[in-house]
Amino acid sequence: MPVKTITLNNGVAMPEIGLGTWKADEEGILAKTIKKAVDLGYRHIDCAKIYGNQKEIGKALSELTVPRKDLFIVSKIWQNVHRPELVAGALDDILDELQLEYLDLLLIHWPYAQKPESDTMNPTVDDLDNVPIMDTWRAMEALLDSGKVRSIGVSNFNQAILEKMIPQCRVVPAVNQVEIHPYNQAPELVKFCQENNIVVTGYCPLGGTKISVMDDDFIKRVANAHACTPAQVALSWSLARGVVVIPKSTNELRLEQNLKTVTLTSDEMRMFSKIEKHERKVDPGRDLKELEWVFHEDTAACPLI
Ligand SMILES: NC(=O)c1ccc[n+]([C@@H]2O[C@H](COP(=O)([O-])OP(=O)(O)OC[C@H]3O[C@@H](n4cnc5c(N)ncnc54)[C@H](OP(=O)(O)O)[C@@H]3O)[C@@H](O)[C@H]2O)c1
Repeated sequence: MPVKTITLNNGVAMPEIGLGTWKADEEGILAKTIKKAVDLGYRHIDCAKIYGNQKEIGKALSELTVPRKDLFIVSKIWQNVHRPELVAGALDDILDELQLEYLDLLLIHWPYAQKPESDTMNPTVDDLDNVPIMDTWRAMEALLDSGKVRSIGVSNFNQAILEKMIPQCRVVPAVNQVEIHPYNQAPELVKFCQENNIVVTGYCPLGGTKISVMDDDFIKRVANAHACTPAQVALSWSLARGVVVIPKSTNELRLEQNLKTVTLTSDEMRMFSKIEKHERKVDPGRDLKELEWVFHEDTAACPLI
């Protein structure tokens, strides 16, 4: 069965379940996983320059028999190419690694910049660069005219940043990819994005490896009631909120399982609010005072628009 799609604000259709690829980089496993996933019906693949595995993904993509137009390939530019003059080259580099002529969606991975020579995932203050987000965004907008990318969006952008950004955009981001799972539900951000025609993609939809969403007693009870797994409950909950999911698995059985979601009752959906923990897996630079505005939404005052 084909995965259902959601329509972006530019009319492009994006499959609502995609395959995550972060840390799926053991030699040989990833290529096998991509091929298996596509056989099972996955069409949306979530990549990023910083994951360091796009060459292997590109090789696997080049060997697929599915037409390119049926795939939905996403990638993200890292913080060290935020300077506007570096953005087009960063896209070319991604296309080169993935062996593609165009991407379906390119995201700004995080809303802050690092110096060109800094590709760390754990920046210190010396890694940071002073590049206004709108300068990077205007360079992203220009990429649409090149035909090398069908849609552009952002990732890890909170509401305060988007509120400042949207009135200045020629093209409003099509997607905001943020951490969303039952222990980090972000209801205000989801509502804000959806009201502004920005599709939310939830990353770490299963809580990743560190957050024990799948051991939650409530989720386990719901899974029992629907004769499915806790992972399927977590994914079904996101999809019922209109949030796209990109679970990562390199296991054949779990890849298949993650495509089969269930319909939760409205009572079950309501009860999820009781298990919220505001627990995040991913927050690089979490201890940097200079990046507080990225991670603490209530005090978010983006200095660089
Ligand atoms: N934009 C961003 O800043 C950002 C940040 C983080 C992640 N992402 C994207 O989001 C994707 C997903 O996030 P994630 O990989 O951190 O976490 P995740 O998808 O929530 O969880 C992945 C973990 O769950 C396991 N798993 C998968 N399906 C399962 C199932 N049905 N039952 C039990 N366990 C299952 C996987 O192990 P097995 O592989 O062994 O099945 C893996 O250990 C990433 O791969 C990446 O593409 C984006």
